Order: sequence, then C-alpha cells, then structure tokens
Amino acid sequence: MKKKGLLVLGVIAGGAVAGTLAVAKEKLPEHLRELLELGMHPGHVFVDEGRDYYHNLKGPNGKTCATCHGQDGAKLVGAYAKMPRYYKDIDAVADIDLRIYKCMTKYMGFDPKDKKFKKKYLKTYRVPLATYVASLSNGMKIDVKIQHPKEKEMYELGKKVWFTRAGAREFSCAMCHMVLAGRRIRLQGLPNPVKAKSYNHWPAYRFGSDKMWTMEDRVRTCFRAYFLFLNKWDEKKDWVKTPPFFAKEVIAVELYMKHASNGGVIEVPGLVR
Ligand code: HEC
Ligand code: HEC
Repeated sequence: MKKKGLLVLGVIAGGAVAGTLAVAKEKLPEHLRELLELGMHPGHVFVDEGRDYYHNLKGPNGKTCATCHGQDGAKLVGAYAKMPRYYKDIDAVADIDLRIYKCMTKYMGFDPKDKKFKKKYLKTYRVPLATYVASLSNGMKIDVKIQHPKEKEMYELGKKVWFTRAGAREFSCAMCHMVLAGRRIRLQGLPNPVKAKSYNHWPAYRFGSDKMWTMEDRVRTCFRAYFLFLNKWDEKKDWVKTPPFFAKEVIAVELYMKHASNGGVIEVPGLVR
C-alpha cells in the first residue's frame, strides 16, 4: 500500500460497525425512543411546516405551489422518486433544492437577482418544502433514469466525483464510503450509501444537532469536512470550504448515488445521528 493510504488508515480507529442504514433503535437517545414509540417523529415538524408554505406562501405574483401542483401536492406525488432529473423548462438536471428554487423565481415572481430572497430560501423555505415534497413519495420505489444527454453527462460527472481523490488528504467519497465503510471516523460509523441504497431516508433529521438536512446539506458537508472540493488546498485560505448550493458537482454526485439507490423504498424524514 502507498504511504498515503497508510496515513489515511491511521486517522481512522479500527472497530467493526455494521453498515448503518438509518439508526438502530437501541442507539437512539432515550427521549427520542420514547417519542418514536408514541408515534412522534421529530422530523414531522418540518413536513408540517413545508405543507404550510406549500399552501400559504404567496409569491409576489400571488401564486402558491398549490396553484400549479394541486391541493396537498396532488400532482407531485411520486416526483421525488425520480429526482434528480432533467427539466426542459430550466434546461438543467435539478435536485429537489434547485427545482423548488427555480419554481419560486421562475413561476412565483421572486427575483432571481434578489440576494435577500435567495438567503431566505436557503435558510428558511428550502428544507421544509423539500422535506414535504419528498414525503409525498413515501412508500414508493426510487426510480431514477439516466436518459437525456444532460442526465448522462451529470451521471458521469457524479461517478467521477465519487471516485476522485482530492483535497489536502486525498480522500474521495468512495474512499470513506466504500473502502472504509464499516469502520469508524471521529467515532462515527462510516455508511456505504451506494450499497445500502440509503438515499431512501433523505431528507433526514439529525438528532445529534437537532436539524433537518436534505441530501445537498449532507453532501456539501462531506465535501467541506474533508476538503474534497479542492484540488489544491491552501491551509490559510481554504481551511473550511463548502461548495456553493446547487453546485454541479453536488447535484451530479446526488444523481449518481440516487441512481444506485433505485428500488429502495422512500421513507422520509429519515433519522440519522
Ligand atoms: C406557475 C406554476 C408553478 C408554481 C407556482 C410552482 N411550480 Fe413547480 N413546477 C412548475 C413547472 C412548469 C415544472 C416543470 C414540470 C416538468 O417539466 O415536468 C415544475 C416542477 C416542479 C417539481 C418537479 C416535478 C416533477 O415531476 O419532477 C417540483 C418538486 C416542484 N415544481 C415544486 C414546486 C414547489 C414546492 C413550489 C412552490 C414553492 C412550486 N413548484 C411552484 C410550475 C410551477
Ligand atoms: C473522510 C471520510 C468521508 C468522506 C471523504 C466523505 N464522507 Fe460522507 N460521511 C462521512 C461520515 C462520517 C458520515 C456520517 C455517518 C453517520 O451519520 O453515522 C457521512 C455520511 C454520508 C452520507 C449519509 C449516509 C447515510 O447512511 O445516510 C452520504 C450520502 C454521504 N456521506 C455522501 C458522501 C459523498 C457524496 C462524499 C464525496 C463528496 C462523501 N460522503 C465524502 C464521512 C465521509
């Protein structure tokens, strides 16, 4: 093995952990276990909030999501199971985070140049709306197709991102999530989201930090935490660098992972550490 490979292994304390999909019930904090037993999932608050925005948040032109997509998301049932995918109206492959942003700026009258609105979208509306829309596909099988040339291009890019070793430590997604899957890093077991089809439980509620995350949040954070986004890494400038929202590389790797999760049954919001 190359010296670098050994170094990488040195960072990670050995220890067998089953490739965790969602979290084993026994591992949950007690108060959460009790809530779940009462049928109360902490992530449901976000679904409810998203449902509220969906019906009541009006754009400057007076439209709501329901104006076009129907009461109770009638026309979006099953949509999340097929995303990310190519959309003709925006001529791009979009994940849920980008798709909703485009609907708000293209169809509801919000100004795409308005930085304040973008910030508000990213911080306030995005996660609840994405979680609500995703929940409309609960119980359905993931069915992402790679057909349109732009989907093919993004899929190839996603695969490349997954396997490319980059950043200060020359990690790659695959390095942690395939080669080292099952081991531990910073006391966390490393899952294999490709083999385990774990896209099925995203967006997920992270009980360690009391936050709901979409897959973009998860992937962007993995990029940041391990400095993957950079080929050359400058310690002063780039200590913590997260790719921007909607970055092509992020959506591409989501497409790659979700395609690998085809057949997995959607169950959101998930529950992760
Ligand atoms: C004025 C009409 C309009 C409004 C309002 C609107 N959208 Fe859309 N939406 C569209 C169109 C058009 C598409 C593209 C449909 C296609 O190509 O299949 C779309 C696509 C989508 C998709 C992907 C559907 C699929 O089948 O893959 C989602 C999810 C979505 N919108 C969510 C929302 C949400 C959430 C809101 C409110 C924040 C919203 N939209 C507001 C018109 C609208
Ligand atoms: C240095 C190791 C490391 C690298 C590199 C890394 N991750 Fe992660 N990843 C983690 C850890 C740690 C977790 C959290 C595991 C947990 O919650 O128990 C995680 C979680 C995830 C999850 C959630 C899995 C699940 O079971 O729900 C996905 C998806 C993911 N990473 C994707 C990626 C992608 C895509 C890349 C490359 C851009 C990447 N990761 C790079 C360490 C890494």
